[in-house]
Amino acid sequence: MSGKLQDRVVIVSGAGSVGPGWGNGKAAAVLYARAGARVLAVDMNPDAAAETASIIAGEGGTAETFTADVSKTDRVEAMVEACLDRFGRIDVLHNNVGVVAPKPTAELSDAEWDRFHDVNLKSMFLTCRTVLPVMERNEFRMDADGRKIGRGAIVNVASIAGIRWLGVPYIHYSVTKGAILPLTRTIAVEYAARGIRANAILPGLMDTPMVVKPLKETYGGGDLARMAEARDAQCPTGYMGDGWDVGHAAVFLASDDARYITGAELAVDGGFSARAA
Ligand SMILES: NC(=O)c1ccc[n+]([C@@H]2O[C@H](COP(=O)([O-])OP(=O)(O)OC[C@H]3O[C@@H](n4cnc5c(N)ncnc54)[C@H](O)[C@@H]3O)[C@@H](O)[C@H]2O)c1
Repeated sequence: MSGKLQDRVVIVSGAGSVGPGWGNGKAAAVLYARAGARVLAVDMNPDAAAETASIIAGEGGTAETFTADVSKTDRVEAMVEACLDRFGRIDVLHNNVGVVAPKPTAELSDAEWDRFHDVNLKSMFLTCRTVLPVMERNEFRMDADGRKIGRGAIVNVASIAGIRWLGVPYIHYSVTKGAILPLTRTIAVEYAARGIRANAILPGLMDTPMVVKPLKETYGGGDLARMAEARDAQCPTGYMGDGWDVGHAAVFLASDDARYITGAELAVDGGFSARAA
């Protein structure tokens, strides 16, 4: 049976997970492979990328790994070269990398402000800038009516922290996540006629390893169960989402099912951002 991304080549940045369990990037990488894609699992931590690739291989999928800090221009360029060497093309770029740390605004240093801009925002500009010309070399896919339906898709992982106050002071996180939206929108319109779509996913409060270390003091006084309870209670659904929720949305946006969707901001947040209070 052929999947909705059969034989497409997908780069997933931050394809590992910072802790045990399923992060957004790791779940997305596995779901891309289950949809038939060949995955380049990119991470600054080689062991984390290797774990994801071995899960994919264990399920009969295809994945290779590449080690890179995607906030560095030379590493991003090397990543793209490696993808072309191994798979010959790039159909989907999934920008998952992002870091979080609460800090009151008046205590934030210049270095912290700059690091968040580099990792959360500049990394997405760098990967898009480098991948877009490569996607433009792909042939257009055509639908049954002979219409061109695209030759590349970009999925950028932002956050509802970019559009809402979530109860945690982290201006550097909110600002960089918010800026991913105009970045995505600009690329979407600039490249619409060239067959490349760009969309953003805004996860809400997700139960992933990423939040455990930086947020457990803020939420639960160091107690993980209390943190989970507090975050569940913040969600209209009564529970947090998880990495699979983000991954399923990403596979949809990357696939031809979403061929007429570009420049969109898809909240995967259980209604969090729809609620007034
Ligand atoms: N969990 C949530 O509640 C939540 C909510 C909203 C948005 N998000 C977003 O989801 C994304 C992260 O999801 P995750 O669960 O996969 O996170 P994660 O922290 O588990 O990170 C995934 C991987 O990214 C890698 N990484 C970090 N910095 C990197 C860099 N500069 N270059 C290359 N790799 C790097 C880490 O080594 C890790 O293996 C972020 O963009 C985050 O802002 C998460």
